[in-house]
Amino acid sequence: MNGPPLINIVDVICQSFHHLDPRLINHGERVAYILMKMMEETNRYTQQEKHDIFMLGLLHDIGAYKEKEIDSMLSFDLNDSMEHSVFGYLLFKTFSPLPEYADVVLYHHHCNAQYYPVPITSYHRDIAKLIYLADRIDIFCVLNGEQGLNSFLEKCSGTVFLPSDIRWFQHTEQKYQLLEHIHSMEYQEELSAYTRDHFTLTEAQIHNYLLTFIFSVDFRNDYTALHTNYAVQLSDNISHNLKMTTNSRKTIQLATLLHNIGKISLPSKLNNTADYDQYLQQLYRTSTQDITRDILSGSVESQILNTINESFLLLECWANNRPLDFTPVPAAEIVALSYLMSNSLTSERNVSLYHHPRLLKFLQMKYQACQMNDTILRVLEKSFDQIIEKTQNACASIYNIYHRMMDEDHSLNMILLHYNNKY
Ligand SMILES: [Fe+2]
Ligand SMILES: [Fe+2]
Repeated sequence: MNGPPLINIVDVICQSFHHLDPRLINHGERVAYILMKMMEETNRYTQQEKHDIFMLGLLHDIGAYKEKEIDSMLSFDLNDSMEHSVFGYLLFKTFSPLPEYADVVLYHHHCNAQYYPVPITSYHRDIAKLIYLADRIDIFCVLNGEQGLNSFLEKCSGTVFLPSDIRWFQHTEQKYQLLEHIHSMEYQEELSAYTRDHFTLTEAQIHNYLLTFIFSVDFRNDYTALHTNYAVQLSDNISHNLKMTTNSRKTIQLATLLHNIGKISLPSKLNNTADYDQYLQQLYRTSTQDITRDILSGSVESQILNTINESFLLLECWANNRPLDFTPVPAAEIVALSYLMSNSLTSERNVSLYHHPRLLKFLQMKYQACQMNDTILRVLEKSFDQIIEKTQNACASIYNIYHRMMDEDHSLNMILLHYNNKY
């Protein structure tokens, strides 16, 4: 039987946005809020479409967590490169529960483009225009305040934006004073109430939104691309071998996915393995762990946060060969083990390490040094080869997807650069 969801995915995403580049803080949730209020004033869309448009508004810049792209998004120069639209399109198409709307993300800045290699229906083009309208209203207000907004909108009426969409926004603004609520931060409570009371996502949809979000961070470079995925696959295979209950497995999977979500605050540019080693160190600094706790407090059920907290403590004991002064719950031990293995593997960039008795020896040594009960480790030992093989197969398939996405990202950006120079 399915209980209530263990996670409020909209809250997790909004809380994570608070730790992004300061110039972009809350941009996605403000755009989602403007759209949410506008949706209250129309019968043009079904309830489901309204929810989908809300999520598109929240995540429209999901491909943008690279410094260079944030500069270009905040600009009003339409000739800027818009690589984040391409990367966001690919993330949406590949992982999200709304792959059919990926084209909306691709067109959300160049809404009127006619010759893109990815065609768009006029129904989706209108949604892209609507999202771009909410996006520009927010950016305009961040840069200039509300003064002059109407004359800016009038200037773009009929060219960039549909005049009827502008009137629709102005009517909604008059009725609800959206911009005032944004200014006073009251909008955050309205947004939470909306998702709490009107939003029901299935477990599969929540999982896919979470994957889209995590991969938008991990796929910023080759070094981190598989970081979360290795740990998730490992923890899943270890829990399967331990015959954990379905509920425990769900907790373990979510705790492994969310274990390092504070990484959103770390720089994305890694050029070599030394940078990656430094990144791993930063991941386990108290400040990054505090960001993870801050993002998850109130957005996930307490057993997930407790599991993550205990896994941090375990990893710290292992790092310092310090005897444990608490008994971890099995879920926390599995999450910590998975990350210890994932970090060793990805930092050495050596897939054969998994077949090497060195890793097992290393784990046994850690358990001894920390005077730990080794029941779980012994189960892992017994099925080590089988667990590793399954994990490697699953990771190989994600790695292929990652490379295909990067190739498509490169070729689409080339085509669009040519297109944007020409038209
Ligand atoms: Fe954008
Ligand atoms: Fe935006």
